[in-house]
Parts: sequence; structure tokens; C-alpha cells
Amino acid sequence: MKVAFFSAKPYDKLFFDKYNTNPDLEIEYFETHLGPHIVNVVDDAEAVCVFVNDKLTAEVIATLASNGVKLIALRCAGFNNVDLNAAKENGIRVCRVPAYSPEAVAEHAVAMLLTLNRKTHKAYNRVREQNFALNGLLGFNLFGKTVGVIGTGKIGKAFCKIMLGFGCVVMVYDLYEDAELASLGVYYVSQQEVFHKSDIISLHCPLTEDNKYLINKDTLAVMKPGVTIINTSRGGLICTADVIEALKSRRVGYLGIDVYEQEDKLFFRDLSANIIEDDAIQRLMSFPNVLVTAHQAFFTDEALSQIAQVTLSSIETLLINNTEPENKAVLLL
Ligand code: NAI
Repeated sequence: MKVAFFSAKPYDKLFFDKYNTNPDLEIEYFETHLGPHIVNVVDDAEAVCVFVNDKLTAEVIATLASNGVKLIALRCAGFNNVDLNAAKENGIRVCRVPAYSPEAVAEHAVAMLLTLNRKTHKAYNRVREQNFALNGLLGFNLFGKTVGVIGTGKIGKAFCKIMLGFGCVVMVYDLYEDAELASLGVYYVSQQEVFHKSDIISLHCPLTEDNKYLINKDTLAVMKPGVTIINTSRGGLICTADVIEALKSRRVGYLGIDVYEQEDKLFFRDLSANIIEDDAIQRLMSFPNVLVTAHQAFFTDEALSQIAQVTLSSIETLLINNTEPENKAVLLL
């Protein structure tokens, strides 16, 4: 049984080859992302394994189905890049990795926050140039600050617990309350109140049709002047043009993003010798108070091991053993 594996990086191959101990499961790796331009190469695989920027549109899914694909295995949690209706109509199952070290992402969000509030990215370069002056490096304490979190699922919850440890007031919004977080002293409030009262806002909800551009000129206008915004969730949660204006007007004091709306044209590749045509990302990176990382929040040894193990196990269960996975959360269809 063959799996066509898209957006394959050397580290994917390392972890998937390490954990693929089933001789009946062959993985064919493709460096390119999956989209209409390449979908026809899948002609003898029963499954495709894809990541966040592969494009599983209705057109791509119909071609996969007609070429014999029975399973789309997402090696990530988010699934906004898959047309689930089209998969259903074409009888293709869809599975994902619902949780892979939520702490990896939560800790990266904290790393971004600590970089921005203490300017360690600036200090690192400065000291290497033998500039030991402190001018321009003034930071602020996290202790006592109000941290607002949108989305208190697995990652948001891990993030809240770390922030409580820093002595922050943690104020959150989710469609559902988490009893454990409430018992730890986290306040569930309205989304408006999170925007209005937080010194720091971290986004940990999925991107849906309802919350596209959650951070826009209207929501930015009610935030505290100088607010810090961290986004490790999905780029489409922030309207980039609006946040650039808010950075220019100083409404936003600091911005840390690990995800970017147009990231599929940039992230996960070395473009250091290219001319970047995306002016918005270039403008963002020109601000001294903006930190961009390229969707690396999940990128720890623990998380990659879990991603490979869960994905391979789902493929084996569904396509080789013809049974259903014990963990129902892996199945989207
Ligand atoms: P989860 O499913 O455990 O939690 C999501 C939470 O968001 C749930 O509690 C849900 O009720 C809540 N939610 C849904 N819609 C909401 C809305 N409109 N407003 C407020 N809350 C809402 O998901 P998990 O594992 O915590 O992941 C969160 C997101 O993190 C994923 O959707 C994905 O986009 C992103 N992610 C980013 C990674 C990275 O490397 N940067 C890696 C993994 C996930």
C-alpha cells in the first residue's frame, strides 16, 4: 500500500522512516506541496499525507478520488486547507493528528512573547557586534500583566498555565469553558472584554469562516494602546493590512507571528536568494517590534515523533487493517 507524501522536508522523512516499521506501507515523498499542478502524479497511492499548506480543493480531491485515493492523512491538527464536503462527496476519509505536544506550540508562543518584551533578538545581535550598551533595550515585566487568550483548547490551556506561573492575570474567551482552567483562577469573559482589557493577547483558536480577520481595524481600535499580540494559530485570524496600520499608529506595541495569511508562498523554504514579492511581509519584518517565525511552533522532537506515530497508525488502521482508529478524534470523516 502506497502513501504519496507531499511538502516533504528532510525532517519529515527522518521521523516517518524511523517510525514506519510496516513492510506493507510504502511512502513516496514529494517535496512540492499538493495542488492542481501536481495532483496527477498520484496514480497508484491509496493515501495522500499532507501538511498545512497543501491545497485540498474540490478539484484536487475529485482527481485524487478518480485516481484511487481513499484517505487524506493530515499530519497536522488544523484542517482549514481541506474541502471536507468535497472529500465526503467523493467518499474519501480524512484523518489528522488532533494533538501533538500542545506544549510545543504554547512554549513557542511564550518564547515569542519573551523575545519581544525583553528584546533579546536585538540584544543577541548587538552583543555580537561588541555593543554592550542598553539604550533601546528597555523591556517590561510579565508579572502582574493581564494576558488575554482566545481559544482555551489544548494549546491555549497549556499557554494559560504557563502565564499563570509568570504571575499574570489570565483572562480568556472560548465557546466552551474549561473547568480546570476556571479552578486555577483563569477568568472566562467575553471576547470584547479580552480585547478591551488585555496587555497581551495570544490567539489559540482555529481559523473558521466566522473568525477570519478576528484581529481587524475595529477590534484593534478597542485594544489597549501598546498591546502585544501573539499569533501561533492561523494567519487568516489577523488582517495584515490593518495590523500594519495599527503598528504604525503605535496601537500595537509588539507583534509576534508564527503564522501568516500568505505563508503558503513563503514558509518552509529557503528564499534567501530570491526577491520577495509580498510587500506586506516585508513591511512587517521592517518593524523593530515585530517578530516573525515561519510556522515553527510545532517543531520539536517530541511533536514530530508524535505526528509520525499517530499518522502512520491511522493509515495502517484504516487502510491496511480495515478497522476504525480507537481515538475517534483523529477522524474528520
Ligand atoms: P483545540 O481544538 O484543542 O482547541 C481549540 C479551541 O478553540 C477549542 O477550545 C474551541 O472551542 C475554541 N474555539 C473554536 N472557535 C473559537 C472561536 N471562534 N473563538 C474562541 N474560541 C474558539 O486546538 P489546539 O490543539 O489547541 O490548536 C489550536 C490551533 O493552533 C489550531 O487550530 C491550529 O490552527 C493552531 N496550531 C498551530 C501550530 C503551529 O505550529 N503554529 C501547530 C498546531 C496547531
